[in-house]
Amino acid sequence: MAIDIRTSSPDETLLLGRRFAALLTAGDIVALAGRLGAGKTLFVSGVANGLGIAARITSPTFLIEKVYRDGFLPLIHADVYRLGSVGEFEDLELADEGADGAVLIEWGDAIADSLPPDHLVIRFEIDGDDRVISFEPHGRWSERDLGALA
Ligand SMILES: Nc1ncnc2c1ncn2[C@@H]1O[C@H](COP(=O)(O)OP(=O)(O)OP(=O)(O)O)[C@@H](O)[C@H]1O
Ligand SMILES: [Mg+2]
Repeated sequence: MAIDIRTSSPDETLLLGRRFAALLTAGDIVALAGRLGAGKTLFVSGVANGLGIAARITSPTFLIEKVYRDGFLPLIHADVYRLGSVGEFEDLELADEGADGAVLIEWGDAIADSLPPDHLVIRFEIDGDDRVISFEPHGRWSERDLGALA
């Protein structure tokens, strides 16, 4: 069942990401969907903070992916906005690389069909200064306690 959470400031979105980090384990795949400026990268910054990663998170748009290994769990932050096709995503072998960490993919709904069955989609919708952030579990993600985020 999907969980919707409304945040009314950038700080609230950061904090939500920080709390979400506590749910992550090795091998997790999370797709972040939503328009430009919806808050995807800000949320990932919160996750990195929650994992104890010191680096400032910036969009990996021109690098496609960045790996952070100084936290409690490795974080692979990808942005597939510029990828031409799903085939290219599969070529990245992100899931393999993230086997010992968590993979967070911006613009992930564009590649949703090529994701493994167990994944989480987080959808960011802009509502004025608010963001409505929906957590949609697929496969075994349904067994996680997403309700703890609300
Ligand atoms: N409630 C909110 N939550 C998150 N961001 C907010 C909120 N209100 C305003 N903002 C602003 O929205 C912007 C979100 O930017 P961010 O880079 O996280 O978006 P993005 O979804 O990663 O965009 P892109 O698709 O370009 O990568 C920031 O400038 C932030 O200050
Ligand atoms: Mg971004």
